[in-house]
Amino acid sequence: MPSSPESLLDAVPVMPVVVVHDLADAVPIARALVAGGLPAIELTLRTPVALDAIAAIAAEVPEILVGAGTIVTPGQAKQAQDAGAQFLVSPGATPSLLAAMTDTGLRFLPGTATVSEVLAVLELGVTEMKFFPAEASGGAPFLSSIASPVPAARFCPTGGITATSAPRYLALPNVGCVGGSWLTPSDLVAAGDWAGIESLAREAAALGD
Ligand code: 3PG
Repeated sequence: MPSSPESLLDAVPVMPVVVVHDLADAVPIARALVAGGLPAIELTLRTPVALDAIAAIAAEVPEILVGAGTIVTPGQAKQAQDAGAQFLVSPGATPSLLAAMTDTGLRFLPGTATVSEVLAVLELGVTEMKFFPAEASGGAPFLSSIASPVPAARFCPTGGITATSAPRYLALPNVGCVGGSWLTPSDLVAAGDWAGIESLAREAAALGD
């Protein structure tokens, strides 16, 4: 297990959001991300093999921090934990999702997109959250606008962010990292181009310099 930073948002400047369709791709993707300098992965629960992919990465790539993304039902929180997930990410923050993620004892990022949602999460003592879908919900100007009135909240904006737009977010005081799927484009995954993914990871890792 990798050494965990105090804050999930400080693990990597760009959190790779990954959809795995073929279980055999999971470990090579994780290894490519680590080789490129991004030792964290949010494996989304969007395919039938996702939980097995988390388990494979946890077993075979111990140097990466592996989390489960797209937690949309309370039961998925425990399933992800049982598979070996070390953190949880949800696109939303319903009371039952928050309770289920809290019950695991794992670190987690609930999803928020409005000031009231941010305040509701803060009321539970949770100060780190995902801002999703970032570009569609106001993007960097939204987060910049709430930094002063709601300084307690720190964000991982995700959704529509690219290597080009990421620096605008990372420059904000209330952003710890950004999330994105651009590191693992489907054409590179289909081609087994792990060196290409390593290269994209290296460029993204440099955004934190
Ligand atoms: C997520 O679950 O965080 C998003 O699907 C990632 O968004 P992106 O594909 O636009 O990067």
